[in-house]
Amino acid sequence: MKKRVLVSGGAGYIGSHVTVELIQAGYDVVVADNLSNCDLTCFEGVKKITGKDDIPFEKIDCCDYDAVDRLFSEFRIDAVIHFAAFKAVGESVAEPLKYYRNNLVSFLNILDASKNHGGCNVLFSSSATVYGETDVLPVTEQSPRQPATSPYGNTKQISEDILRDTVKATAAYGAEVMAGMDRQGPVKGIALRYFNPIGAHPSALIGELPRGVPNNLVPYITQTAIGKRECLSIFGNDYPTPDGTCQRDYIDIVDLAKAHVAAVARMVEGKMKKDYEIFNVGTGRPVSVLELVNAFEKVNGVKLNYKFAPRRAGDVTAIWADPTLAEKELGWKAVRTVEETLASAWAWEKHLAGKA
Ligand code: WQD
Repeated sequence: MKKRVLVSGGAGYIGSHVTVELIQAGYDVVVADNLSNCDLTCFEGVKKITGKDDIPFEKIDCCDYDAVDRLFSEFRIDAVIHFAAFKAVGESVAEPLKYYRNNLVSFLNILDASKNHGGCNVLFSSSATVYGETDVLPVTEQSPRQPATSPYGNTKQISEDILRDTVKATAAYGAEVMAGMDRQGPVKGIALRYFNPIGAHPSALIGELPRGVPNNLVPYITQTAIGKRECLSIFGNDYPTPDGTCQRDYIDIVDLAKAHVAAVARMVEGKMKKDYEIFNVGTGRPVSVLELVNAFEKVNGVKLNYKFAPRRAGDVTAIWADPTLAEKELGWKAVRTVEETLASAWAWEKHLAGKA
């Protein structure tokens, strides 16, 4: 029988790419999304790419426990991938309560329902932001976490801890241990710490759909190239890096999605070495803002209007992953080049503009 994966936030940028890869790998998927930060564009794209018209879609808010509980009653769920969360760093500083309430309550509900329905495998969507500023690069999963610099980042750290503690507390749950409460079961967990996900599906049918002015670099680049924005500001060219601009580990969205499939397989096939595991999902390759801009211009044959601007508050100088553990344990490795990824981002922007 096919294994079934619940993807919360499955209509969004990362969730839609992961849904495609799961289906193509032979999983059944249930998508749950409250559409608070996206519409059904990407979900429709997922159906086109996979040729599957009957993917269950549940418009629910994971902050509503009863709704989550109903989903677990309705479907036999073998694993959950939890994406449903707010993700704008700046907004989280202005509205911390909104971020803590949404991101933590929804995750608590997913974990509670997982535990209450006989146990489940839970994959949490974490972030390299938990490492903060560090001089020791690349970062491994053992690198110490630094205090979060935003409520958004803090929700990622707290959620990792909640998952770790829940896994520990439920490890012994089973019918015999919890006599009379035999529907409770163990939660097993994997946290994937993403570096900077960019790009779009090669079909250009799904991609990132930022609302309003983009905060992230690549959507800002593509919107400037297409003429929606006048000029890209490169935040800071006086950092202690080779060309003075910040360095990041930009990970292709399809590569990132495949890491989820590998992690789900590890969980549902009983191959975890510990009940709670953490993996970096990055390329291991630092790329500066200027290098990214130059690569975009070159691979797509477009000229980008950009200027140097003051540093952006809260930015770390440089961060990139040591992806060795994921390669060894998940058998996963990023394969797309930055050029391929930037070409896919541009194809998606043109698709949106109806020019492709
Ligand atoms: C990358 C680089 C900017 C915009 C954030 C979150 C992280 C994760 C991904 C998501 C930096 C520079 C950017 C611009 C620029 N979370 N830049 N001009 O800050 O590394 O990570 O997004 O949901 O948790 O913190 O990504 O794309 O914003 O910035 O020069 O207009 O591009 O200074 O060096 P970041 P980013």
